Amino acid sequence: MSNKLFVKNAKQIVLICNSGEKFLTKEGMQKLCVIEDSSLVIGSDGLIKDIGPARTIEVQYAEALFDEVIDATGMCVIPGLVDAHTHPVWAGDRVHEFAMKLAGATYMDVHMAGGGIHFTVENTRAAPASTLLASLTERLGRMLRAGTTLVECKSGYGLELHTELKMLEVIESARSTLPINISPTYCGAHAVPKGKTVAEATTDILQFQLPRLRERMSSGALRVDNIDVFCEQGVFDLASTRSILQAGLDMGLNINFHGDELHPMNSAQMGAELGALAISHLEEVTDEGIAAMATAKTAAVLLPTTAYILRLPQPRARDMLQAGVIVALGSDFNPNAYCCSMPLVMHLACVNMKMSMPEALAAATINAAYALGCSHTHGSLEVNKHGDLLVLNAPRWEHLIYQFGGHQELIRYVVIKGKVV
Ligand code: NIG
Ligand code: FE
Repeated sequence: MSNKLFVKNAKQIVLICNSGEKFLTKEGMQKLCVIEDSSLVIGSDGLIKDIGPARTIEVQYAEALFDEVIDATGMCVIPGLVDAHTHPVWAGDRVHEFAMKLAGATYMDVHMAGGGIHFTVENTRAAPASTLLASLTERLGRMLRAGTTLVECKSGYGLELHTELKMLEVIESARSTLPINISPTYCGAHAVPKGKTVAEATTDILQFQLPRLRERMSSGALRVDNIDVFCEQGVFDLASTRSILQAGLDMGLNINFHGDELHPMNSAQMGAELGALAISHLEEVTDEGIAAMATAKTAAVLLPTTAYILRLPQPRARDMLQAGVIVALGSDFNPNAYCCSMPLVMHLACVNMKMSMPEALAAATINAAYALGCSHTHGSLEVNKHGDLLVLNAPRWEHLIYQFGGHQELIRYVVIKGKVV
């Protein structure tokens, strides 16, 4: 049977790791596994079949058939990028609020005045599913062209059952028809709906929304992987966050939530105690929170675009790495932080959060895949993992981070399960 793809003679192939690691911490991130003058074969099942020195692979596969051959002479190959945090389903942009924030308003000023998430909720509730699917498809296309091959996608601009399900259904149609891999997240506790108290919103989620979601999931109508809550002063407090996350865990979802972003809330300690797979933001995490996450192997999904655009303190990437936390990255694509590009996210992580380029790449591949519970199949180039990769028209892989902008020129091919997309 014909193999799917032969990528031959690459200058560098960045495997990330090659001993079946499910995540990397500081030491591993600093010494990524890179091989020179090599080739890679993806089998008919879309999984990586072989990686090795160009000459050896050439001889070994001399008689083999391939659907496609990429001559990567002078180019580099890296795993497809993984974006561990996005809010890509919504209607109504917030360009007017960007102007308000540039003029001095804070994120919470805008939110408390009824804008921010509330503005997007009104527009998303009013939008037909077909409109949401069209804009989601366009956004995922942009992400794909910027090298993202696996992306987490949240609901959370409905805040009531009907719209939350509409968003998850839109994500499900994208997941089942588009080439990009999607990890769907229920984020019904993204804000407290106007006119409701935190207690009322929590009860609605626990007693009404989650049971309906569970029915849809068990009938096979929806796939949802993760549960998310925005744990923040003026949004969901620690106790309500805990009860919603626990309920999600009880129905088989991975915990992956927004914590310690604008105020220290002890979200990190609480998440670690519940066995959260990941916590995002963490601009205000404490030393105790960092230590708890390291022990629990809870990934920190850092979002450099948010800290940048809201002029927040930078997430403490160096302290987290030093403490042995599994650091991952996400774009946080949403109407507040309009960024579809993981190469730009890695660039910001390096310059503003003082990560090295190998650390940033590991955070945007194997560790982001870990944060989504997918690092046994995605996030590194290893035999039997999915053949998801990028071919870069550059003599060293670091160009992907060094060049900020113009990535369409640099990313020559995006491959998912052995198929050029
Ligand atoms: O991750 N902090 C909460 N949620 C999003 C922002 C969503 C929005 O403003 O629409 C975030 O930054
Ligand atoms: Fe977010």
